Amino acid sequence: MKTGQIVRDDPTMPIDVRWPLVPGATALNDTVEGFARERERAFLRDALPSSTAPPELNLGWLVPLAAGRVVGVELDQYEFYGADGADSTVTYYSDVTAGQVWRGRDLLTPDGLAAAVRDIAAALQRDGRTVLPELLNDPEQVAAAVDAMYFSPDGSVRFTLPEGALGPMSDGMSSVSVPEAVAAPWLSSAGHIVQAAARTAAPYVGSTAPTTSEPSSPPTSIPPTSNPTTSTPSTTSSPTQPPTGGTVNCAKLQCVALTFDDGPGPSTGTLLDTLAAAHVHATFFVIGRNVQALPALVTREAAEGHVVGNHTWSHRDLSRLGASDQRSEVSRTAEALAARGVSATLLRPPYGAYNSTTRTLGVPLVLWDVDPADWRDRDAAIVAARVLANTRPGSIVLLHDVHPSTVAAVPAIVAGLKAKGYTFVTVPQLIGTMTAGTAYFSRTSHR
Ligand code: NI
Repeated sequence: MKTGQIVRDDPTMPIDVRWPLVPGATALNDTVEGFARERERAFLRDALPSSTAPPELNLGWLVPLAAGRVVGVELDQYEFYGADGADSTVTYYSDVTAGQVWRGRDLLTPDGLAAAVRDIAAALQRDGRTVLPELLNDPEQVAAAVDAMYFSPDGSVRFTLPEGALGPMSDGMSSVSVPEAVAAPWLSSAGHIVQAAARTAAPYVGSTAPTTSEPSSPPTSIPPTSNPTTSTPSTTSSPTQPPTGGTVNCAKLQCVALTFDDGPGPSTGTLLDTLAAAHVHATFFVIGRNVQALPALVTREAAEGHVVGNHTWSHRDLSRLGASDQRSEVSRTAEALAARGVSATLLRPPYGAYNSTTRTLGVPLVLWDVDPADWRDRDAAIVAARVLANTRPGSIVLLHDVHPSTVAAVPAIVAGLKAKGYTFVTVPQLIGTMTAGTAYFSRTSHR
């Protein structure tokens, strides 16, 4: 599926916002893009750059339902403003034939909304969680509590509440499922349309090949509630299989490793054409959810002799995550790649941010010594000039194949470095034997 994105790899104020462009769902796509761009605007307005506690905005997506004329998009947001982070999720559903778009709250009648929130609050309390009465009296909090809704084939409905919706922020997100018999009287006419679509296994009319992905956490049954924290710390990829690339003696030759982060994206195919024409092999650090969206480009990267590395699942600042979340950010991407026959044995931490926990994940960390700030200056000539001016023998160059301006700079980078006598290698070729937990900045700078 094609995607839209706003990526700002500014380490003092990182933004990674992505949304899907669902085939045949123009009105839904417009609404979802409007939501994403509004989140970016609010973040740029409210956040202050910081090198010690950088604010962060991260928005990812899933397609929880695509059946008949109904398709849904889930948007998962993480915001950090220098004190504490907040997770939240909203869903939008659309009848693509009628061009109508609904947020979760639109799928309930006014009475249904009140009844749903009473039941949700009761379920939370049965589960031993705190419900703050003042939040139950706040119409915006109440509506936000039902803005992420999921419909199962058995007719049941699940609500995923953002952090702090009805209880204290410290309780995290929570999820409550209700059976069809309970939920049916709450639903508006739009809600019944979405519920009916979820019960059918009809192919999605907007696309000949529907692209449905699983919701982030499985539904639970009422009355128990569950906290959908991802607690699947399966093992990370073990760096056993040597990455692709023959032997090059970079102790004698003047070698350079071009690395491309944050993809695959819409410009990646063009870049692969450029690299193939120039017989240059590079290293791609891919984001897991982009692998899920554009898997063919990753298999092409590997098939054409490039090294594919891990850039985490959702591009979060790892230094801010606990051990199990760091592990799952890495293992989810490793598993998505392995499922496509691609082995990723290197990790590039997003924003270059890592801590002692990151060093225990079982993979070498690949940083860089040449950064042309291509995420900020979307100008091919400037990016190429900076790379040519700063590359030294043994350099690792940080680039981003999600920016068309960077992809446009690559022919000049390759020609310019070739003219200076450089040999292009992958990161494993540049460094040779690499050790899990070590951070590599260039051929000779490790720590
Ligand atoms: Ni990145």
